[in-house]
Amino acid sequence: MTAPRKILIVAGARPNFMKVAPIVHEIKRRVKAGDAAIDLRLIHTGQHYDQAMSDVFFADLGMSPPDINLGVGSGTHAVQTANVMCRFEPVCVAERPDWVVVVGDVNSTLACTLVCAKTGIKVAHVEAGLRSFDRSMPEEVNRIVTDALADLLLTPSLDADDNLLHEGIARHRIRMVGNVMIDSLIANLAQARDCGVSARLGVQAREFAYVTLHRPANVDGSDELRRIAGALERVAQRCPVIFAVHPRTRAALQRGGIDLDRPGSRIRMIEPVGYHKSLWLVDNARFVLTDSGGIQEESTYLHTPCLTLRPNTERPVTISEGSNRLTNLDRLTADIDEVLGTDDCHGHTPRYWDGHAAERIVDALLGYDSTGHGSGVN
Ligand code: UD1
Repeated sequence: MTAPRKILIVAGARPNFMKVAPIVHEIKRRVKAGDAAIDLRLIHTGQHYDQAMSDVFFADLGMSPPDINLGVGSGTHAVQTANVMCRFEPVCVAERPDWVVVVGDVNSTLACTLVCAKTGIKVAHVEAGLRSFDRSMPEEVNRIVTDALADLLLTPSLDADDNLLHEGIARHRIRMVGNVMIDSLIANLAQARDCGVSARLGVQAREFAYVTLHRPANVDGSDELRRIAGALERVAQRCPVIFAVHPRTRAALQRGGIDLDRPGSRIRMIEPVGYHKSLWLVDNARFVLTDSGGIQEESTYLHTPCLTLRPNTERPVTISEGSNRLTNLDRLTADIDEVLGTDDCHGHTPRYWDGHAAERIVDALLGYDSTGHGSGVN
């Protein structure tokens, strides 16, 4: 067993940045303290590229700009995945890293894992093992393929270990390290609470609903979107709504001629918000309505009621242990009534969502032993 000397860590899209930041900070901390000799490179695939979808997260999370930006941009799934592969392969050939670390379930995660599998470079997947059991979701396909190919599977919760074991993945490839996104949340909460978004938006804590919706299944069809718009208008009769609109959703609203931000409306449509502002909104909302994976977890940690507009979730602990519940357009009004009718938000924080996941991730990378005799927290 030799400790890795060169590690590439990959981020591509908005939900990746808060997962890579704690790992980057932890490796740099160990290198600075003389506890590790690691040559680290941060690779941004450029899947997300707008200032509001990418740069603001580097600033909020205290990360230096990426060492390499592949600049792939948007495209169909095939085009985007292929472009990441074409541009990442030469980087792997030139850098010859000991490990590539990928996070989450976006197209960049899958594409970089495929390149490594074919160039003989070890891959560690952070947030491995999550399953919605719904292959109509592009992310589910990305998760399954990434986990089948990755060497080291770093899971956020025990249900993820069970999923991987059921798929026949060897126990010694799996380490339950906890939820690295919660590391970022804990490290940034004080700054989030000080970010001034409340005054800027003119909202008071616990008096508004925070809405984020961007999944293709919810927003790409104009019928679904029209029904969502009707539901949001009903929510707005009960409390002001802050709707941070993803570019995919904004384009779909425009295509469908749906205008929710009319004069006098209590629905406030804003551009996608940075990390600190989003954390403040999750922390202080009366409830959150979302189809995001990350917000289900953040609201669980912050004990904010969360309604997830999806038929399933790959993050079941946010329901069994946290403050999340699934909803649909037929049930939404009743679910909102229930959420608004109680001041109690039940739920507790899952195991290892404690701010130390990045330490366990770096320990697992440094202690990895392909023979199955490595150390881990399991
Ligand atoms: C991607 C991820 C999804 C994640 C989401 C978070 C995949 C398959 N999906 O979905 O898992 O939850 O990111 O946001 O990887 N666009 C911009 N500016 C940007 C980026 C995108 O305007 O910086 C627009 C483009 O028109 C693009 C569309 O948004 O076509 C969708 O972007 P894309 O990266 O394809 O998927 P997301 O819906 O963002």
